[in-house]
Amino acid sequence: MPYDPNSLSNLDEVKTNHIHLDLAVDFIAKALTGSAELDIEAIADNVSKVVLDTSFIDIRSVSAGGAALKHSLEKRHEKFGSALTIELGQTLAKGGKAKIVIEYATTQECTACQWLEPSQTVGKKHPYLFTQCQAIHARSLVPCQDSPSIKLTYSASINAPLRAVMSAVPTGEEKQANGTTTYKFHQKTRMPSYLIALAVGNLEGREIGPRSTVWTEPEVIEAAAWEFVDTETFIKKGEELLTPYDWGRYDLLVLPASFPYGGMENPCLTFVTPSLLAGDRSLVDVVAHEIAHSWMGNLVTTENWEHFWLNEGFTVFVERKILGRMQGKEHSEFSAIIGHKALVESVELYGKDHPFTALRPCLRGEDPDDAFSSVPYEKGFNLLYYLEKHLGGAEVFEPYLRAHVQEFAGRSINTDDWKAFLYSFMEKNFGQEKVDLLNKVDWEAWLAGTGMPPVENKFDDTLAKACNCLCKKWNESRHENKPTGFSAKDIEEFSSNQKVVFLERVSEIEPLPHSHLDLMDELYHLTEVRNSEVKFRWQMICLKANYEKIYPEVVAFATSMGRMKFCRPLLRSLYLAKNGAELARTTFQNNRSFYHPIAATMIAKDLGLSK
Ligand code: BES
Ligand code: ZN
Repeated sequence: MPYDPNSLSNLDEVKTNHIHLDLAVDFIAKALTGSAELDIEAIADNVSKVVLDTSFIDIRSVSAGGAALKHSLEKRHEKFGSALTIELGQTLAKGGKAKIVIEYATTQECTACQWLEPSQTVGKKHPYLFTQCQAIHARSLVPCQDSPSIKLTYSASINAPLRAVMSAVPTGEEKQANGTTTYKFHQKTRMPSYLIALAVGNLEGREIGPRSTVWTEPEVIEAAAWEFVDTETFIKKGEELLTPYDWGRYDLLVLPASFPYGGMENPCLTFVTPSLLAGDRSLVDVVAHEIAHSWMGNLVTTENWEHFWLNEGFTVFVERKILGRMQGKEHSEFSAIIGHKALVESVELYGKDHPFTALRPCLRGEDPDDAFSSVPYEKGFNLLYYLEKHLGGAEVFEPYLRAHVQEFAGRSINTDDWKAFLYSFMEKNFGQEKVDLLNKVDWEAWLAGTGMPPVENKFDDTLAKACNCLCKKWNESRHENKPTGFSAKDIEEFSSNQKVVFLERVSEIEPLPHSHLDLMDELYHLTEVRNSEVKFRWQMICLKANYEKIYPEVVAFATSMGRMKFCRPLLRSLYLAKNGAELARTTFQNNRSFYHPIAATMIAKDLGLSK
């Protein structure tokens, strides 16, 4: 029986097999209006009601087979929304089925949706709508059992004045007399509710591979098609490592600047931030990551958000395998070094004893967005990396990875399921010797322990050496009035990731004098840099040094993209920097509508504007 502390649904009694959405997109009212039809099935005897998750949804009617059903919307739970209790008017025995139709409309408070004004798009002429459902926002888009333990297929009919795309395969479109178009979709692979996704806007598509089209506004289509040419190779590498790609299409949607994440693995249609358009393909590892989710997360899904590491840790592990096969081991190990730094920062931010620094945290009463950090990603990656080495390397572990997908595809699992299969696979294929090795693992420390992992992995640091060296040189020059040992040549040969690591090392030393930062910028042109990962780290160094010259740049960057990975730490650091608090707050308040509701909520908390 599934357990999910973040859903109000009666998951022990009912499951949903399919949802059909029939919605009209109204840009004037900023609402989606229509119906959801849920195919439900009793998983226990004597089931007389269904409890669905909803959040700020306006419920208009509930019926089954044309007959109205009694229902009530419970008082709102601050974090989990309002349970919608529906009386079935009959009792279902285990295996009994029903189709429930709910007519509803979304409201302005629905956190999954961001409705953009034309001015917030690249083209500035048309409005735009996009959704972000992970972790628990699907309930503000559709009344549903909003738990990743429930896996369903879905279909949709979306009537809109502009092109609609979804996390499903398009199955047709019909022009209507009033000038709108109805777009139809079908998702045949069972998936969790958090992967339902919709975007509507002035979109153009360009083919970039045999099963891939990139969608975006016409103004950036050229740049997007160029940046993501490697997409098919990533998918192929994933297939070589795991199993055939199951979702048919793998399209990409490049969103407007306010998209709150780097990427979101919506099936058939990954959503990505436009900040990946660096012009040099240096940020496409995010696409490799989202592709890896096609197996890890989308086929094999965490049962609830407490085991989120099964999605993200596994995905990072596969992402780095894919990159390693394309660029070489030095590159994937370098990526692990960058990841390790992100883990250290998350642990420092929460504090090493904080429950959210455990790989398997308790989320009872917690909003999963508050628990989000690099911990599930990088502690999870480190556990798998350690296990691979400990058990005898890729020859042992890669067959296991594939078997893990084959065993669990289509299901939702927890950490115990994962561990039990790891043991049984190793025993069956490699015998007692591997079981003995598994018994030596300190599971308690890895899974329940807080802070940094109990074992420190050693990564190949070939690509990090030059970065460390250069940082050391700057550190040693800190007492020179006018250091002379530096030139633009220092970083000429550096990849963007090497610039990132150089700046991370600089961020670890005592802040350099402002005259040194002046010189560093003059030589390396860091303020002007286009790569967002590099720009972000440079600005963070400057903020830590109270280098006020950077403040206007921080304001410009943090209000030009809504990717939380960047704008949250930047605004938080500006808030803490000398003479920065007021500026950080007004910057946020003046730009609140630019940010996606999920980002706005988090930033308001970061700046002490709400709790
Ligand atoms: N699924 C996540 C994004 C996410 C996580 C959204 C939790 C909402 C709640 C996505 O796959 C992801 O991890 N994106 C990263 C990219 C990365 C680690 C390469 C991001 O957005 O930065
Ligand atoms: Zn991910």
